[in-house]
Amino acid sequence: MSMPEREEPYTIAWDAETECIVYIDQTLLPGRYEQMRCATVDDLARAIGRLEIRGAPALGIAGAMGVALAAARSSETDLERFSGEIGRAADLLRSTRPTAVNLAWGIERVQRKVAMAASVAEAKALAVAEANAVAEEDELTCRRLGAFGEELFPERCTVLTHCNAGALACRCWGTALGVIRSAVAAGKSVRVIACETRPLNQGSRLTCWELARDGIDVTLIPDSSAAYLMRRGEIDLVIVGADRITKDAVFNKIGTYMHAVAAHHHKIPFYVAAPVSTFDLARTEEEITVEERDRSELAYCGDRMLVPDDVKVLNYAFDATPLDLVDAIVTEIGVLRPPYAESFRLVKERGTRP
Ligand code: MRU
Repeated sequence: MSMPEREEPYTIAWDAETECIVYIDQTLLPGRYEQMRCATVDDLARAIGRLEIRGAPALGIAGAMGVALAAARSSETDLERFSGEIGRAADLLRSTRPTAVNLAWGIERVQRKVAMAASVAEAKALAVAEANAVAEEDELTCRRLGAFGEELFPERCTVLTHCNAGALACRCWGTALGVIRSAVAAGKSVRVIACETRPLNQGSRLTCWELARDGIDVTLIPDSSAAYLMRRGEIDLVIVGADRITKDAVFNKIGTYMHAVAAHHHKIPFYVAAPVSTFDLARTEEEITVEERDRSELAYCGDRMLVPDDVKVLNYAFDATPLDLVDAIVTEIGVLRPPYAESFRLVKERGTRP
């Protein structure tokens, strides 16, 4: 599949000239569209922790590029000490976000290449080449996935989505929003309902921004009105991304599960779009750590206090949707349908993480 010419920067990329990672700072959107750069692994870890770089596939690229950054900028000449330094960088990056499996997947892909090298110079070259390969493959993957997924969309439809599984969450194009973009490109009339995605508003800040920018019809709703719109017959299907798909569940942004329950109740198809790199089929839901984020994300809106200081806050970043609520999972190798125990065999043959 050939890529169309690009006029604008990718969400995240490697700058060979300066040996830096350049990325769009997603915390500034929609007010400011700015590219930042990371020259150290510490800076990258901070950017990931603050969600300047976010979304599972983009985190996979960030993890891969983070290991490449550590390698490229290392002054170690001894291969064993160099490998130790890379291992510490990988551990730091891996610790930033525990639920999104693509992060660990991207890190491990580049680490495996580094381990194959016979010299520091070779390890540096292999690491940068592999990180760039991870990024390039992501674009191809999203476009393939989009082409498979758009066949699930009727000619005219209203689609509900949660969080941001778009160009900003990947190198470009997107997973769930990639399917929407592919359907629009195929001439279908698609109206998108974007849930705001409290507390960090990836839906209103990012999904609305990128769809409106592409001229795709998008309407913002509070998360709490999704079920009512379904009840009124205003939603034809739901499509979301994923941060990790285990044997039994789909982990995605907090709030996804309630949309799946509501869609099931109203007999509305609930679809997930995710690359093979998001599958973790050796594990079950209960083995996964769900990231809990700082109370300040809920307790404040900017400088404004929203809850008394002495009130406890529970701020899970993700939830798990059991597979029996998922009508199909769109991947770059095709659309997977229940029974998933069988259709996941195809994914296992492609090889997910060990
Ligand atoms: O906390 P975030 O913004 O990284 O959460 C992102 C999501 O939940 C996305 O839906 C998921 O990563 C899929 S992105 C293609």
